[in-house]
Amino acid sequence: MEKRHPARPLSKNPHLLRWVEKMVALCQPEALHWVDGSQAEYEDLCAQLVAKGTFTKLNPQKWPGCYYARSDASDVARVEDRTYICSQSKDAAGPTNNWVNPYEMKKTLRGLFSGCMRGRTMYVLAYSMGPIGSPMSQIGVQLTDSAYVVVNTRIMARLGQRVFDLIDEDFKRVVPCMHSVGRPLAKGQADVAWPCNQEKYIVHFPETREIWSFGSGYGGNALLGKKCFALRIASAMARDEGWMAEHMLILGVENPQGEKTYVAAAFPSACGKTNFAMLIPPKSLARKGWKVWTVGDDIAWIKPGADGRLHAINPEAGFFGVAPGTSHSTNPNAMASLARNTIFTNVALTPDGGVWWEGMTGEAPAECLDWQGKRWTPEMALQTGAKAAHANSRFTAPASQCPTIDPDWEKPEGVPISAFIFGGRRATTMPLIFQAFNWSSGVYVGATMGSEMTAAAAGTIGKVRRDPFAMLPFCGYHMGDYFRHWINMQRSLTETPRIFHVNWFRKDKEGKFMWPGFSENMRVLKWIVDRAKGGGRAKETPIGWQPHYEDLDWEGMDFPREKFDELQAFDRAAWRAEVLGHEELFIDLHAHLPKELMFERELLICRM
Ligand code: OXD
Ligand code: MN
Repeated sequence: MEKRHPARPLSKNPHLLRWVEKMVALCQPEALHWVDGSQAEYEDLCAQLVAKGTFTKLNPQKWPGCYYARSDASDVARVEDRTYICSQSKDAAGPTNNWVNPYEMKKTLRGLFSGCMRGRTMYVLAYSMGPIGSPMSQIGVQLTDSAYVVVNTRIMARLGQRVFDLIDEDFKRVVPCMHSVGRPLAKGQADVAWPCNQEKYIVHFPETREIWSFGSGYGGNALLGKKCFALRIASAMARDEGWMAEHMLILGVENPQGEKTYVAAAFPSACGKTNFAMLIPPKSLARKGWKVWTVGDDIAWIKPGADGRLHAINPEAGFFGVAPGTSHSTNPNAMASLARNTIFTNVALTPDGGVWWEGMTGEAPAECLDWQGKRWTPEMALQTGAKAAHANSRFTAPASQCPTIDPDWEKPEGVPISAFIFGGRRATTMPLIFQAFNWSSGVYVGATMGSEMTAAAAGTIGKVRRDPFAMLPFCGYHMGDYFRHWINMQRSLTETPRIFHVNWFRKDKEGKFMWPGFSENMRVLKWIVDRAKGGGRAKETPIGWQPHYEDLDWEGMDFPREKFDELQAFDRAAWRAEVLGHEELFIDLHAHLPKELMFERELLICRM
């Protein structure tokens, strides 16, 4: 068969063709490539990335179909201070988002994008967030000068000809996404392995539903379907259309009777959502027939169904997981998911053509090349503390390769959600588990969530920041209006999910983690599911319902009652400081804060 010329359009849609033409005139790429999404094209692009030095093909015996990339040292995480929500008014974006007048920002972007793809290929990447043809899915078209972005998106979303066909067939609204690494090449100028620009702009126009990203090739800055579309733009769409776009994993818990209960959970970035989504119950519970199924590990789109319940889809098709700490003991399902056809970025490269990261194995390799390509040995690390893998190094792996992927993970109508779980990384104050009294107190719990900062975003690691619903960096409009939307959602439902808060990270006086986490979290999840189904015993406390020691299944685990009581303790002094922290957030949002949340705060103070 004759090979298709990549510049030949794969769509007949006149709006799309005109937009591509206009953007070509603006960015002036050397070539145009409409991405068909085929395996042959994927392999071709990977081979080009290998030839350019961006990719290293890993040892096919050990890591079949896998590639390795190292980014520029200045381009390793999402850049929240360079991320903008450019709504018509500053008030609509709210105080938690960076805002610039959209006309001014468009002018800046036109300047930045003018000629920005010189010497490069512009890829036309049509993708569906959500299963093809699901009524809950949305379509985006990203124009990008990064082949790395194209191959990663092929894992993270459904893309190519089948999406162009959808655009042609039934003109669904498309979200236009412009992306450039911002490093044009002059005639004859040699490229670098990871082109990017020191000046970065990650810009969203929520009213016109557009995304423009400049200067970065990394993760959420560049794979625009993920954080930019599926959270920031989608949250604005969802508010207008009566659904929810949330930073949540989705999992299904199967009980010994074979009944499945789905829950969605919001934890801030790098707080273990991927591990929780792929949880393997401890043997004692697995033997009784408890099993966890994975639907998604990062984002949930949730809509009221005809049955009066909320139904969720995972808009993504892959996992863009944090590598460090992922191992056969912490997350065997993630390890199986990434064993083949995976792209690794900023981990370490071993001499046998494999990859390694801190926490992957008990013992480090005798030597390897670190994420910047420098020789690294465990002895050197002892002296300097240097990590072989960057703390935010990632694997991009197909969700379909996860051994626990739920048989219904691509069901067009989604899965019914019975509970929401909120959580963060908190050394103090927050108990292992409590259940909110009702929907509005649950919304209060989500709205006042806090967590110690991690490496997923640039910032001070370890400091507690309020991260409402784990959406602080991802909400495309005023956070107070987002709380209002949550409160209002109850009106569209006849059965509201129950709401819970968990904290796997509480420490004792010696600074040691009190709860082992991982598989043992199943004991907490089991109680949550029991409660969500209307069973499960609990006691009332000032902050919500908590299990008695006897209410958790301890079979096969030696966890003394006193330790549990300490883990669950309500510390009045710490909660006093906690509530003052809530107030600081509320002061920032006061003009848009739903009064239900002020009442909830008063009630909490009264109970305390
Ligand atoms: C992510 C994040 O990459 O939340 O999922 O930063
Ligand atoms: Mn995330």
